[in-house]
Amino acid sequence: MKRFGSAVAVCVGLMGIHSAFAEEMKMQMGNHRHDMSTMDMRTSLGLSGQMKQHQLANMREHVEAIKSIVGLMSEQKFEEASGVAHAKLGLTPDMQSMCNMFENENFRKLGFAFHQSGDDLGDVLKTKDMGASLRALNRTMQYCVECHAGYRQ
Ligand code: HEC
Repeated sequence: MKRFGSAVAVCVGLMGIHSAFAEEMKMQMGNHRHDMSTMDMRTSLGLSGQMKQHQLANMREHVEAIKSIVGLMSEQKFEEASGVAHAKLGLTPDMQSMCNMFENENFRKLGFAFHQSGDDLGDVLKTKDMGASLRALNRTMQYCVECHAGYRQ
């Protein structure tokens, strides 16, 4: 019984230390705004103001393209969806020169692979195969997710 009592005392003691430590950490993090939810660990591309606006406008067009492709697929308009995929997500000369403006080589590679997948999506859509088209769309959107997880402006 005595043993049990001292084990409890040790545990409570440790917990006391632990919570005091946690409290201290919380205060430090609170003061410096460094808790995990506010810390951005992604690689910065170091873009200039103008490049930032240009990139964001491009990105908004990418979401719009995905939206219109999904809408056209739902109406079985595969030919039109294919056209949007090639023109808006594919590796057009415009997209090629946009991607080439970035200094970060891995980012550039990811950008090219993404646009290549946009052209692949366009080819698959032409087959009018819904399952295969959804899988191709999923592969393209995987690049959106992957790039956003790794890079910021
Ligand atoms: C090669 C990298 C890359 C790929 C691929 C990519 N993006 Fe982005 N996107 C970015 C970066 C970098 C930003 C800026 C994020 C930041 O600084 O927080 C961004 C921002 C955005 C934004 C915010 C726009 C705004 O006005 O605030 C949207 C929306 C977006 N992307 C959509 C997409 C969609 C949809 C796809 C896929 C179809 C996609 N992106 C593919 C890199 C990428």
